[in-house]
Amino acid sequence: MSYSERIALDAEGLSLSRLVLGAWRLLSGPERPDANRVADLINDAIDLGMTSFDHADIYGDYGVEEVFGAGLKQWRGQRERIELITKCDIMLKSGARPDNRIKHYDTSAGHIEASVNRSLKNLQTDYVDVLLIHRPDPLMDADETARGLEAVVEAGKVRAIGVSNFSPSQFDLLASRLPFPLVTNQIEVSVIHTSPLVDGSLDHAQLLRYPPMIWSPLGGGSLFTGDGAQERQVRKALQMVSDQLGGVDISAVAIAWLLRHPARPIPVLGSLKRERLASMASALGIVLERQQWFEILQASTGEEVP
Ligand SMILES: NC(=O)c1ccc[n+]([C@@H]2O[C@H](COP(=O)([O-])OP(=O)(O)OC[C@H]3O[C@@H](n4cnc5c(N)ncnc54)[C@H](OP(=O)(O)O)[C@@H]3O)[C@@H](O)[C@H]2O)c1
Repeated sequence: MSYSERIALDAEGLSLSRLVLGAWRLLSGPERPDANRVADLINDAIDLGMTSFDHADIYGDYGVEEVFGAGLKQWRGQRERIELITKCDIMLKSGARPDNRIKHYDTSAGHIEASVNRSLKNLQTDYVDVLLIHRPDPLMDADETARGLEAVVEAGKVRAIGVSNFSPSQFDLLASRLPFPLVTNQIEVSVIHTSPLVDGSLDHAQLLRYPPMIWSPLGGGSLFTGDGAQERQVRKALQMVSDQLGGVDISAVAIAWLLRHPARPIPVLGSLKRERLASMASALGIVLERQQWFEILQASTGEEVP
């Protein structure tokens, strides 16, 4: 694998970079990044082959898209050289949304359209490449949600539609109402969160041949900071494999472990630090041996496979 490898999402030429940069933590640091800092971040990511950026309307209490959009305007590159992913349907209790009395979901057609319009304005772009329904909504009326999704695609505001945190049956339900395929399901998987290997999520991705996007690929950092038996065992196993590979960073081994899966998972990296991103990008040059992969799995689950 190389920095330039792409993963196709549809038959119309839409593809994502092999690793995606997640923007969730853009406003988590001590300083609010200005437009120049964000433009530099976009360039750093592109240098490492990451042309795709993952957003959601709610990130940073509804603030990240706007800050990223200012950086995107400052950035000198062509919009067509990058891909923007965003999400909708989570309704946070927030000063930015005074009408939300309680955290809830909204997959109505009206909300989808309004949320996409806001994301386009905040990101200062005419279109997003992929729109995801962020979380399954128990009140989702699949016919209506599909109508809302079709409308934003037909209007040229969104190139492709996916979902996030959906079970296979929730995915199939929405897909059954759409005239085009859902291109991904963004789910949590990591060396410390392995249940999607056995709960049907990754089987479903292979069955329908869509690449799943993977959030918190380092367990949201708990892989490094966690002090439980699982984290300690997994770090030990990653270190052992790292030693076998000549001492690469264990974050790269953790990403290589995901990349080894045949569903072609696309990890969404959460650090925004260039050195850390570069370490993780080195995973593109690693192909774990089958037994190395199982050693890490066993360290995570705490037991030999049956
Ligand atoms: N669809 C969903 O429901 C959903 C949910 C959550 C996230 N996401 C997406 O997934 C992306 C990634 O999630 P995530 O941020 O939880 O990913 P992650 O890569 O698992 O975790 C990133 C965190 O790990 C920390 N970290 C500590 N040591 C590190 C090291 N040596 N190398 C790299 N990172 C280290 C980072 O700290 P520093 O920041 O200090 O480097 C950062 O806080 C988000 O940005 C978002 O786009 C989606």
